[in-house]
Amino acid sequence: MIDIKNITKSFGALQVLKGIDLHIDKGEVVSIVGPSGAGKTTLLQIIGTLDRPDTGSILIDNIDITNLSQKKLADFRNQHLGFVFQFHQLLPEFSAIENIMIPAYIAGLSQKQARQRAKDLLAFMGLSDRASHKPNELSGGEKQRVAVARALVNNPAVILADEPSGSLDTKNKEELHQLFFDLRNQFGQTFVIVTHDEGLASITDRTIHLRDGLIETPIIPQETCLNSEITTPSE
Ligand SMILES: Nc1ncnc2c1ncn2[C@@H]1O[C@H](COP(=O)(O)OP(=O)(O)OP(=O)(O)O)[C@@H](O)[C@H]1O
Ligand SMILES: [Mg+2]
Repeated sequence: MIDIKNITKSFGALQVLKGIDLHIDKGEVVSIVGPSGAGKTTLLQIIGTLDRPDTGSILIDNIDITNLSQKKLADFRNQHLGFVFQFHQLLPEFSAIENIMIPAYIAGLSQKQARQRAKDLLAFMGLSDRASHKPNELSGGEKQRVAVARALVNNPAVILADEPSGSLDTKNKEELHQLFFDLRNQFGQTFVIVTHDEGLASITDRTIHLRDGLIETPIIPQETCLNSEITTPSE
């Protein structure tokens, strides 16, 4: 589903990503953790085609996005990827349902089709009675669920989330995390989630540890090393 080979990225003299190789399967829910400044957001932005790597290649959904033009990248994003950010980034002057409809319009759906799709998603999120509310009339958890609905409207293969529950209280946080797994189980979406939340990381299928621009490989327990020495033929 996602195949990343030898991605590097520098900002001026600062090398933020130093050679990232990563394969993520369809339907996997993967978390990316690591200290502040490790390069998590940079990596997610590159996977999301919002930024370009200096070197390396990325295949998503069997499409090599490495050398696509800006126009093709914008279409690719609209059709294959959904984004959820820490601070929902809904458009304040539009209602919940309109916020969800906008990417569907851009993808070429009619107003009627887009509205129906947005209505279905609002129902799935348990937000049918909030459809006409503007973002400032919604709670934090509701706003974040609207943002997830917006990310899903074009039925993307991959959802990319950067600190999606960072601004939520415990209850809303847990509901949002459960929602990710419900979506994966029902629609088979692939999730890549950058998080500082240990609770979330611990329930994902796999956790990638990023440190100083590299993926940390798990340290082999000493016992295993000793055993392998013992089993090494001595003659
Ligand atoms: N556009 C940019 N220009 C210059 N430096 C940048 C830019 N974007 C990120 N950086 C730097 O790259 C490094 C990695 O940033 P990044 O946002 O990927 O970290 P992060 O792992 O997401 O951290 P956090 O957990 O704090 O969000 C940081 O030192 C940051 O200051
Ligand atoms: Mg970040």
